[in-house]
Amino acid sequence: MAWRDWIRTVEIEPSLYAADFSRLGEQVEVLLRAGTRVFHFDVGDGHFVEPVTIGPVVLQSISPLVHEMGGILDCHLMVDNPTRHFPQIAAAGGDSVTFHYEVVDDVPATIAAAREHGLQVGVAFNPESEPEDVAAVAGDADLVLCMSIHPGYSGQEFMPEALDRIARLRDALPDDVHVQVDGGIDNETVVSAYEAGATLLVAGSAIFGREDLPRAYRRLVQALA
Ligand code: DX5
Ligand code: ZN
Repeated sequence: MAWRDWIRTVEIEPSLYAADFSRLGEQVEVLLRAGTRVFHFDVGDGHFVEPVTIGPVVLQSISPLVHEMGGILDCHLMVDNPTRHFPQIAAAGGDSVTFHYEVVDDVPATIAAAREHGLQVGVAFNPESEPEDVAAVAGDADLVLCMSIHPGYSGQEFMPEALDRIARLRDALPDDVHVQVDGGIDNETVVSAYEAGATLLVAGSAIFGREDLPRAYRRLVQALA
């Protein structure tokens, strides 16, 4: 199975980093029932980003439920040394890994290393990196992630300059590589990011910061209808 089989033209991806971890299984299940197909899972190492976030132990505890219900786990590695984490992520039930352009010398080789573990692959880049530079080396990836915040924490505001960066990235990439956006996606920014060319839209606090998770998820989906 590959990204092209998983996604339905466009996907809203709830970011589990923003979940209530005392009720993680319940929240995942409620969102799967509401129609979520792809979950975003943020691994932060305390070096590339300030916080230590969640990792393979948590991934392992939710992946059976997600897979049983037809879901996908899309892992965003906010870490200095992504390659060393690929085997553990794959063993814990991750389906896709997205590593950062900024920390890797050889992007095509890193993409190939992830594929050796049976993983789908994304390449992420920060607001300081140029979309065209990333696109020039990430053509073999399944997705390229344009960060619309400085990575590290949920609940930050969408950087408006990300819209132009998404559009430039879309133009520079082959058609079959998806553009993903992560950070500050809400009921308004989801529309402008989609119009700029993003088809995988990650949302943390806009879903988990609300009382009614299915309703928050569906509002984001409906905003694009
Ligand atoms: C933070 C993570 C994001 C985060 C998004 O750097 O990469 O996935 O959870 O959260 P929101 O949607 O609240 O900006
Ligand atoms: Zn993320």
